[in-house]
Amino acid sequence: MSRLHGTLDAQQPLLQPYRMGDVQLANRIVMAPLTRSRATNPDLAPTSLHARYYAQRAAAGLIISEGTWISRDAVGWHDVPGLFTDTQVQAWAEVTDAVHDAGGVIFAQLWHTGSTSHPDFFDGTPPPAPSAVNPGLSSPTAAGSKPTVTPRAMTRTDIRTTIGDYAAAAANAHRAGFDGVQLQAGFSYLIGQFLNPRTNRRTDAYGGSIQNRTRFLFDVLDAVAEHVDIGRVGVKTGPAWAERGEFVSTADTLATSEYVTERLNDYPLAHWLLMGAMADLTGLPLAQLQHDGMFHHFRPLYRGTLIANVGMTRDRGNALISQRLADLVAFGEPYIANPDLPARFALGAPLTKSERALHYTPDAHGYTDYPPFTPQSEPQADTVTETASAD
Ligand SMILES: Cc1cc2nc3c(=O)[nH]c(=O)nc-3n(C[C@H](O)[C@H](O)[C@H](O)COP(=O)(O)O)c2cc1C
Repeated sequence: MSRLHGTLDAQQPLLQPYRMGDVQLANRIVMAPLTRSRATNPDLAPTSLHARYYAQRAAAGLIISEGTWISRDAVGWHDVPGLFTDTQVQAWAEVTDAVHDAGGVIFAQLWHTGSTSHPDFFDGTPPPAPSAVNPGLSSPTAAGSKPTVTPRAMTRTDIRTTIGDYAAAAANAHRAGFDGVQLQAGFSYLIGQFLNPRTNRRTDAYGGSIQNRTRFLFDVLDAVAEHVDIGRVGVKTGPAWAERGEFVSTADTLATSEYVTERLNDYPLAHWLLMGAMADLTGLPLAQLQHDGMFHHFRPLYRGTLIANVGMTRDRGNALISQRLADLVAFGEPYIANPDLPARFALGAPLTKSERALHYTPDAHGYTDYPPFTPQSEPQADTVTETASAD
């Protein structure tokens, strides 16, 4: 290696290949799903800009796409693409082709916002949710962030239809050339609303006990597995989120997550992406899950491929894999401004900070114009080396 590039550390755990379910990955670095609001067209279809953006990031072992709508009813964030029309499927095929041509692997994240959507997305009618409970959050509409409202409680027919929508979107993802799908089953979104007893007040088979509140997730998984090999299906969930609105943890939260984890073992999934804590959990029911406590707690409970996420760095990611607390490590924010993250980790090169104001803006600026690392962009050539392995 040249002096300017620092010392290459290709032996670090993050850069080792990995067999994830049915899919071979070149390294253990995952691009976490990132909504970027660039589908600024009435079809809610990705464009050539999306293809360029994802192809730039194809050196990741695995890319998880931004959340994509499973149906018209799922919409709840401005300018996010869907996977429920032929136009969208054809447009995504150009994205997956671009990623494959660049040597990458890409899963589609399947998303339904439920009560965190807003009537603005539905000509004034309230969005669907497990129960008529306002989650007390905000919804990013085209006209800015608006407070959520009381949603309409889904009927049993709505539930059946929505499960079918997940399955159809998974089939569409397959047709569009995605290597697999990931269910967004965490945060404050639809599946998370079913899991949470504060937002799920149903008295039928989908509410009440932990078994009932988790039924929707497993019905969705079963339906998706009819269209996509289960070894190509991942799930993103976890007990902790931002501790906001109706999504504050209670004594029930950990028990629900532990039950979900045990049941996920019944499915030979591609992966489980476990979110680390996003809020300070000190003094809260989940305090023991702070920082790596999350992975210490759940790793022994899950037998499949575990992806650790939230606040990861190169060193923390390498340590988690070395300690067998994670198999893969997902990076969200760092992937916005560092399209060549594996190369930067190999070199111990500095990371570029992303511009938050450009996360959800409509064009290429702040999206496809973050350059890869070059020695010229390196402020001090002698400080980039973090490892001391031989040249
Ligand atoms: C701009 C932005 C958009 C995001 N969009 C999504 C999304 O569409 N789906 C999802 O599951 N998580 C989404 N997330 C969360 C990330 O996938 C990730 O879980 C989170 O940022 C924590 O990882 P990090 O600390 O490496 O950023 C988003 C995060 C950011 C910063």
